[in-house]
Amino acid sequence: MTVEDLRQLVRTIPDFPKPGILFRDVTTLIGDGPGFAAAVGHMADRAEAAGAEVIAGIEARGFVFGAAMAARMGLPFVPVRKPGKLPVPVLAIDYALEYGTDTLEVDPGAVPDGARVVVIDDLIATGGTALAAVELLRRAGGEVVHSLFAIDLPDLGGAQRLRDAGVPAEALMAFE
Ligand code: PRP
Ligand code: ADE
Repeated sequence: MTVEDLRQLVRTIPDFPKPGILFRDVTTLIGDGPGFAAAVGHMADRAEAAGAEVIAGIEARGFVFGAAMAARMGLPFVPVRKPGKLPVPVLAIDYALEYGTDTLEVDPGAVPDGARVVVIDDLIATGGTALAAVELLRRAGGEVVHSLFAIDLPDLGGAQRLRDAGVPAEALMAFE
């Protein structure tokens, strides 16, 4: 399945969740068995090339791709969670979204010291979410060596912000 085939599986919803936002919906991609398998396979190949030792997925849609990659690769999966979900004292960080603000949390003991971590999410827009995850995973002791997304919205500059922070960023597809 080509990347163009995968692109066709992403549904676009105007004015969700707020007027003016073009929502790129991956539920139609993950709802297609061969399409989801191909997307996870491509992303796992890139994570392997980056020398991943730990896969970190960002709640919620990053869990879908990241957990599937980790299982396929036989690597540990670390969840980067929304607030109040982890049952231990956490590292936490606030961040700005394309449409609002939020907080992410990680278990400080989840990442072995110096482990090569690859950060996974379904989509990168402004990069606020991914940068917050990178900061948390670094504080937890990881070396964040790469970041991978199914979708990049390059007009919002997130992938460039990640590269400026020293983290290579790649996506399967882009929507201008
Ligand atoms: C979406 C998406 C990314 C983030 C990208 O998540 O899954 O995590 O926004 O935006 P950014 O690059 O501007 O930070 P959302 O907060 O909607 O949460 P969800 O995955 O729980 O639906
Ligand atoms: N997360 C942030 N911006 C988004 C968008 N335009 N579509 C889907 N998810 C998003």
